[in-house]
Amino acid sequence: MLEKFQVKNYQSKEEAYLLLLSQINNLLNKDDKLISNLSNLTAAIKETFPTLNWVGFYLRENDFLYLGPFQGKVACTKIEIGKGVCGTSALKKETIIVPNVYEFPGHIFCDSASKSEIVVPILFEDYLWGVLDIDSPEFNTFDLIDKKYLEKIIEQFKASVLKYELLSYSSKMASSKI
Ligand code: SME
Repeated sequence: MLEKFQVKNYQSKEEAYLLLLSQINNLLNKDDKLISNLSNLTAAIKETFPTLNWVGFYLRENDFLYLGPFQGKVACTKIEIGKGVCGTSALKKETIIVPNVYEFPGHIFCDSASKSEIVVPILFEDYLWGVLDIDSPEFNTFDLIDKKYLEKIIEQFKASVLKYELLSYSSKMASSKI
C-alpha cells in the first residue's frame, strides 16, 4: 500500500490535491487503527506538499484540543477551544485561513518558521471531534482551493474511517463490563 502512494512534481495545486484525493481511499483503511490512519494522512499531505512546515491533527476532549499525529517540529500539546487559530476554528466549527499569522489575534506560535496557516474542523454531525492544522513557512500560502480540497479530504476521512471508529467505540462501550 505504502509504495503505491504517488506524488508528482511540477503540477498545479489543484492537480496535486486531485491526485492525493484519488489515493485517499487506498491509503485509509477502516480496519487499521485510527492513530495509524491519522498518521498516514499527515504524511500523505506533507509528501504531496513538501514545502509545508507542519501538518497535523489536534483531537478534542471536553474543552481542549490535544496534539495528535503530525509531521513537523515539536508543538504545543494542549489548546483551549476558543484560543489560537485551532481553538477558534473548533469554536466556530469552520475552516479558517490565516494569510499572515502575525496578524491573527491570539495566534499560538509552535513553530517560529510558520507564517501562514489553515485549520479545518472535523465535525461528526454537530460534534467537534478535532481539527486538521497546516502551517506554511511562506505568507499567503492558503486559499479557497486548499479549503475546498482539505474539506473534501476530511469528508473522505470521516466516511472511510471515523464513522467505523466511532461505531466500534460505541459498541465496545456498550459491551464493556467496566
Ligand atoms: N498556530 C496554532 C497552534 C498549533 S501549531 O501551529 C502546530 C494556533 O494558533 O492554534
